[in-house]
Amino acid sequence: MSERTVITFGTFDVFHVGHVRMLKRAAEHGDRLVVGVSADALNVRKKGRAPVFTEDERMEIVSSLKVVDEVFLEESLEQKRDYIVQHGAQVLVMGDDWAGKFDWVSDVCDVVYLPRTPSVSTTGLIEHISTLA
Ligand code: CTP
Repeated sequence: MSERTVITFGTFDVFHVGHVRMLKRAAEHGDRLVVGVSADALNVRKKGRAPVFTEDERMEIVSSLKVVDEVFLEESLEQKRDYIVQHGAQVLVMGDDWAGKFDWVSDVCDVVYLPRTPSVSTTGLIEHISTLA
């Protein structure tokens, strides 16, 4: 039987337990996990701020995880379908903060939204750390 490739996307800045749990659960949906890490410029457009860690650092962190087989730089949200096809993915996994937003790629792969880990986010961590100084 052929290998089932899972693809997921995210910024993964200030890497935290919500990120690792999402990647572990995404990996369980297939045999191989490919991760699109948002480019610094995309993050500015998407979240209105530059990431703390650069795209090269974030890709290095994500690619070092044993559940991750391959990483690439995601430069635009609109290219999702192209990335899915290029990487031969049969399933797109996203956190449910994106619920419904990527149903438009369901012509090329299955689309699964997983619940987020409660009470942790990069934004919350940055805000918390900024109160400590
Ligand atoms: N994620 C998760 N649980 C969390 C935080 C993130 O499952 N508590 C998932 C997201 O749903 C996404 C992936 O991890 O699939 C990458 O999320 P990202 O946007 O990089 O992290 P956030 O912590 O949500 O960042 P921010 O606060 O900047 O929005």
